[in-house]
Amino acid sequence: MSDFGDNSELSEAVLAGAGAEELAACPLPDSYPAAFLRRQDQDLFQDTADKDVRRSLHLGRLPMPELAPDEVLVAVMAAAVNYNTVWSAMFEPVPTFRFLHDLARHGGWDARHDRDYQQIGSDAAGIVVRVGAAVRHWKIGDHVVLSPVVIDEQQPAAQEDGMLSSRQLAWGFETNFGAFGHYALAKATQLVRKPPHLTWEEAACNTLCLATAYRMLIGAHGARIKIGDIVLIWGATGGLGSYAVQLAHRAGAIPIGIISNPHKAELLHHLGCQHIIDRQELGFTERTSAHVHDTTTTPADAAERWRALGGAIRKRVGEDPHVVFEHVGRETFGASVFVVRRGGSVVTCGSSTGYQHQYDNRYLWMKLKRIIGSHGANYQECVEANRLLELGLIIPALSRVHPLDHIAEAVRSVQLNQHAGKVGVLCLAPHEGLGIQDHRLREQIGESRLHLFRDHADASATLDSIDRDAELIGSAAR
Ligand SMILES: NC(=O)c1ccc[n+]([C@@H]2O[C@H](COP(=O)([O-])OP(=O)(O)OC[C@H]3O[C@@H](n4cnc5c(N)ncnc54)[C@H](OP(=O)(O)O)[C@@H]3O)[C@@H](O)[C@H]2O)c1
Repeated sequence: MSDFGDNSELSEAVLAGAGAEELAACPLPDSYPAAFLRRQDQDLFQDTADKDVRRSLHLGRLPMPELAPDEVLVAVMAAAVNYNTVWSAMFEPVPTFRFLHDLARHGGWDARHDRDYQQIGSDAAGIVVRVGAAVRHWKIGDHVVLSPVVIDEQQPAAQEDGMLSSRQLAWGFETNFGAFGHYALAKATQLVRKPPHLTWEEAACNTLCLATAYRMLIGAHGARIKIGDIVLIWGATGGLGSYAVQLAHRAGAIPIGIISNPHKAELLHHLGCQHIIDRQELGFTERTSAHVHDTTTTPADAAERWRALGGAIRKRVGEDPHVVFEHVGRETFGASVFVVRRGGSVVTCGSSTGYQHQYDNRYLWMKLKRIIGSHGANYQECVEANRLLELGLIIPALSRVHPLDHIAEAVRSVQLNQHAGKVGVLCLAPHEGLGIQDHRLREQIGESRLHLFRDHADASATLDSIDRDAELIGSAAR
């Protein structure tokens, strides 16, 4: 638990494992510790090259918001950093306060969201401590993880696919009262049963990236990969990529993982990915960063890199990929369209390096390729993806855990691409390792498997420091 104090009766009851009746009887605290952005900082990074998120993330107490009838109040035990945390803390591509303002224009309960602060964060695990009057399927005391997708279930399109409802929002990004606090507000339609064999921090790190990757690769709206398909995955050990690799492997497809650091290769082998490409060797050297990129690559340079990537893929698997898993954007999109096979699909959900992409359309139309746009996952897809965790088919990609007080450092590590998989944040949970309900299932899956990402993070920290020492010795000798 964070150092900055929460001795409310309710928080203490949650930590003591109180039952539903006792939790219901505890008064709600007037305020609670949380991490947030401030409206007054929106212009903080104008003309600044390094939009260092440590400058825009604040800690303090926020007032307890009022609960709408279709909402629940969750005592957040743990949360996780997503790349949207980085976007919102950089105020890029637009300050998220604009989303809150737009949401509030709908009036009614939505007006609560427009404040001078935003409690951000889109992944959490915790305990339901209050339910609104219209909530049917959940009760106080339930252990849950949260889907990051807020939908308007009263819109007709939501009956077909929640992601098609025009008022679908990313929780803790386009809404207030998100994951990074001791308490968070969520719609009842965001709740998913917490996998009972996972700790709070292991449970909190999955939903956003796992469900997004599930929709992109497996669900009815994405690329629908099948046994034997070759799937090229950018950022294969990043948040999304770590789950994409596992899903591809479990679906019987053949993942090819792209990484930027040879230390990540072993992790991929453990996840079932035997074919690995180091993007640095092919000239894809930019990194997702705090900076707005200004690359001076000519079309000829770009085409050379595309061909080099295509050659590297054929060398490993003898053919072109059926599907490319995209989220990097400007730096890689042209290559993705080029290398995917005739009739294949590039499925994309993001643009970390810039959202204005260039690709050679001849390769798309003449070879009958497709680009599939994808975003988040609907409620059912979240539940299906979560089930794979419960079956032990997918493991959490948690590599590092920080207390809420250190959230700025946690988000900075993701901003600088210094992490693998997911970075967790302890909120109400006083330390790691709590929240396991099904020890037998945990044993069956295996502690070492569940610790794969954390063990890798420890090992690569050692290897990185050996590399740094070797460089120092080398430069001293020169
Ligand atoms: N629409 C949605 O629903 C949705 C959901 C989740 C995420 N996203 C978006 O998807 C993007 C990735 O999210 P994430 O959680 O996976 O982030 P992440 O954890 O930072 O992982 C991204 C990975 O991309 C790789 N990468 C970084 N710069 C690169 C470059 N210049 N060229 C090639 N690869 C590069 C890195 O791996 P290496 O350095 O090893 O190559 C990194 O591990 C973000 O923009 C995020 O906002 C969208």
